[in-house]
Amino acid sequence: MGKIEIKHIALLLLVVAFSSCNSKKTDPGYTYFPDMAYSRAYETYSENTNFADNKTLREPVEGTIPRGYTPFPYEKTEEDMARAGKELVNPYEPTAEILERGALIYQRNCKQCHGEKGDGQGHLYTSKRYPYPPASLINEKMVAKPQGEMFHQVTLGYGIMGAQGPILRPEDRWKVVLYVKNELQK
Ligand code: HEC
Repeated sequence: MGKIEIKHIALLLLVVAFSSCNSKKTDPGYTYFPDMAYSRAYETYSENTNFADNKTLREPVEGTIPRGYTPFPYEKTEEDMARAGKELVNPYEPTAEILERGALIYQRNCKQCHGEKGDGQGHLYTSKRYPYPPASLINEKMVAKPQGEMFHQVTLGYGIMGAQGPILRPEDRWKVVLYVKNELQK
């Protein structure tokens, strides 16, 4: 009796084993637990009727600030420049190290127009490649100008000069302002 049972079980196993084979190699066969292979949760970029805009991925809340980003709540106007001059304080002290960094930024990003000495006689202008006279950064008006105003001018651009904000990090903009104030305007 016992021997027959084992035979039957062996036969049954054999039948099951062979019936699970398939001559078509491209056929994936049965899927067990399909909800694991095919997620029932919404995919990030799938449509979603639960929301008015039909998107699964939600927009960040209005006013969200990216990590490490400092907002600059000023417009490119004279009034906002004056406001920046009153509200913004240079977070750096003119140490040798900070001024060295400021000098490097000046040489890379400003000298070609404003000149080695800051008098507006940069190579691009004297060689007539740049037609508009770059402002002097060392005249009386600029010496009297608060650092926050200069930071505003560098960040958003001024008159015909383009904005440096998208090119230079805030800390480098402050350092170049410090360099202009402490070295060029000496
Ligand atoms: C492509 C040339 C160019 C470059 C590069 C440039 N500037 Fe200027 N900048 C100008 C011109 C031209 C003006 C005058 C704009 C006007 O009056 O319309 C100006 C104006 C300014 C002013 C305002 C001066 C004023 O009279 O109020 C400041 C401050 C200034 N630049 C600083 C910088 C600094 C700092 C850099 C480097 C980070 C820089 N600029 C890079 C061309 C340039």
